Amino acid sequence: MAHKDSQSNMYQHSEKKVELLKLYLDRYLSILNQSKHIKRVRFYDLFCGPGVYENGGEGSPIVALKAMSEILNSDGARNNLDFVFVFNDYDKTRLDQLSNNIDKLNFVGSEDSRIRLLNDDYQDAWNKCHAEVTKMPTNERAFVFIDPFGYKDISYSDIKSLLENKKTEVLLFLPTQFMFRFERKGTPTSLKRFIDEIVPEEQWPNSFSGLSFIENLKSAFRKNLENDKFVDTFIIARDRNQFFCLFFFTGHIYGFDRMLDAKWKIDEEEGRGWSYEEPMGLFSNLEKRPQIQKFEKELKAYLLNCNPTNGELYEFTLRNGFLPKHCNEVLRSLLKTTGLKVFDNKGNLIKKEAFYINYKNFKFTPEKVKFELK
Ligand SMILES: C[S@@+](CC[C@H](N)C(=O)[O-])C[C@H]1O[C@@H](n2cnc3c(N)ncnc32)[C@H](O)[C@@H]1O
Repeated sequence: MAHKDSQSNMYQHSEKKVELLKLYLDRYLSILNQSKHIKRVRFYDLFCGPGVYENGGEGSPIVALKAMSEILNSDGARNNLDFVFVFNDYDKTRLDQLSNNIDKLNFVGSEDSRIRLLNDDYQDAWNKCHAEVTKMPTNERAFVFIDPFGYKDISYSDIKSLLENKKTEVLLFLPTQFMFRFERKGTPTSLKRFIDEIVPEEQWPNSFSGLSFIENLKSAFRKNLENDKFVDTFIIARDRNQFFCLFFFTGHIYGFDRMLDAKWKIDEEEGRGWSYEEPMGLFSNLEKRPQIQKFEKELKAYLLNCNPTNGELYEFTLRNGFLPKHCNEVLRSLLKTTGLKVFDNKGNLIKKEAFYINYKNFKFTPEKVKFELK
C-alpha cells in the first residue's frame, strides 16, 4: 500500500500528539500504581500504526509500552499490577512492523500482562474494546486512544458509551481543520452525521475559523455529556491557521486535573496546545509565564457571585482549563489587594494564607473553607 510521506515519517505535530499521550500516561499510571485496589490497566490503541516510523519517530504503541515499563521499574512499583495492551490496525504490513518493533523492546510485564495485536477494521475493534471495558470489574481501569486519519469512522455515541462505566477514559484525535473546511463548503453526510449526534442541527453555530470550530465542538460535547463527565482539548497547529485537535474525555475529575497538568507542561503560557514556531525565534529564550489574566477576571466574577467553597473553586478552576496553582496565585493577589476573605467551616475568619484548592481536599474536605469577595 502506498503511503503519503506523513504516514511513513513522523512529523513534529504528530510528535506533540504522542508527547501529550506520554505525559498523561505517566501521571495516570503512577496514580493507578499507587491505588492498591487496582489490579489491571487496559490500554486500547484502535488506530495504532507501526510503532516506529522510517525517520525513527516513536508512535503511540511504543510510547505507551515505555510508559508502563517506566512505572514497573520505578521505586514504588507494585508486582501485582497487570497490563493489557490491545493494538489494532487494519493494515497488516503496519501491524507486522509493530510486532517486530515490540519484540525489540524486550517488554517484561507481570505474569498476567498481555499484548494483543488485532488486524481489524476500526468498528470491529471498537466492538471488542467496548465489550471488554463494559464488563470490567471494579478493580480495572481502561484508557482508549483513537487516532484516525479522518473522521468518517468515528461516532460520538461510540465515545460516549465507552465512558458509561466511569472507569474508561478516551483520547480522540480529530482532523478539525478539514471538518471546518467542509462545514463551510456544503456539509458532507459524514460531518452532518457526526454533528447531528451531538447537537440538533439548528443549534450548531457557524464557525468563523478552525479554532472556533474546535470551541463549538468542545461546548457541544460539554452540553451533551452529563455533569459528572469532563471534556478537554489540546490544539495542534500544523501550520499558520491549520488547527487539529485532541479531545480528552473522562468521568474522573482527578483524571481531568492530571490531563490539564500534562497540557500546561507542553504549553507553559496558555495550557492550550502546541504550534510550530521558528526554532530560533527572537523571543525563544525568554521565560514563559502562564497567562492568567482572563481566568483572573472570571474567577473574580465567580467569587463575587457565588461565595464558593474550596471544593467548588477547585472544580471551577479545572473547568476553566487552569490548575490549582494558578487559582492560588490569583487568590494570593486578591488577598493582598482586595477585600477577599476566607472563612473556616465554623464561620471564623482565617488570617493565614490557606486555600485548600486541590483534589485531596475536594474529595475529603470540600467545605473546609469558604471564600467571600465584596
Ligand atoms: C494516524 S495513524 C496512527 C498513528 C499512531 N497513533 C501513532 O502514534 O503512530 C492511523 C492508523 O490507522 C490505520 N487505519 C486507518 N483506517 C483504519 C480503519 N478503518 N480501521 C483500522 N485501522 C485503520 C492506518 O493504517 C494507520 O496506521
